[in-house]
Amino acid sequence: MKISVYIAASANGFISNSRNVPDWLSPEYGQGFYSICQKFKAVIMGKKSYDILAPGYLPLTTEGTTVVLTSKHEKPANETVVFTQDRPTEIAGMLKDKGYTNAVIIGGAITISAFLKANLVDDIYFVIEPRLFKTGLPLLQDVDTDNELKLLGVEQLNDNTVQVHYAIKK
Ligand SMILES: NC(=O)c1ccc[n+]([C@@H]2O[C@H](COP(=O)([O-])OP(=O)(O)OC[C@H]3O[C@@H](n4cnc5c(N)ncnc54)[C@H](OP(=O)(O)O)[C@@H]3O)[C@@H](O)[C@H]2O)c1
Repeated sequence: MKISVYIAASANGFISNSRNVPDWLSPEYGQGFYSICQKFKAVIMGKKSYDILAPGYLPLTTEGTTVVLTSKHEKPANETVVFTQDRPTEIAGMLKDKGYTNAVIIGGAITISAFLKANLVDDIYFVIEPRLFKTGLPLLQDVDTDNELKLLGVEQLNDNTVQVHYAIKK
């Protein structure tokens, strides 16, 4: 089971600004986000990210599996959404048992950090947007590893936005 991260960041590394409004994200980030979710059909996100996207902007609606990490017992937006308190290893196992070979984590920091700490992230797509934020949300929280990365590819998405694809060396 291969698990990727697809995440947009400011040029100085924040994944959200202090206003917590995603108006700095390019259309190309949005296209890449929907494209990788459609390709893998298995999407993982935290409840805070889900609450921003659901119900209107979820990348998968009638197909695939969207796993949302949450301790809440609410009704998911649709029947392809699974709310879970399981650990990352259990989530990876569940998706593998369902037949998926790839999954993508689309945010946020808490969720990415949990999978990284469990050594379950294989590669990361950073979409670097042309912004500098004084403050914001860092990509990682409470992660004390010092991962070495291997560059897999660089793609210019528009005049000012670059996608950088790294594998995590294990
Ligand atoms: N730049 C980007 O591409 C991008 C993409 C997505 C999101 N974001 C930003 O990221 C921010 C949200 O990220 P975040 O790190 O604050 O939150 P998050 O990872 O989206 O969600 C965290 C929440 O998920 C639940 N959760 C996490 N781990 C869990 C576990 N092991 N068991 C049970 N529940 C668990 C908890 O919610 P409960 O209280 O429900 O238990 C927790 O508060 C937003 O500002 C958003 O704009 C940026």
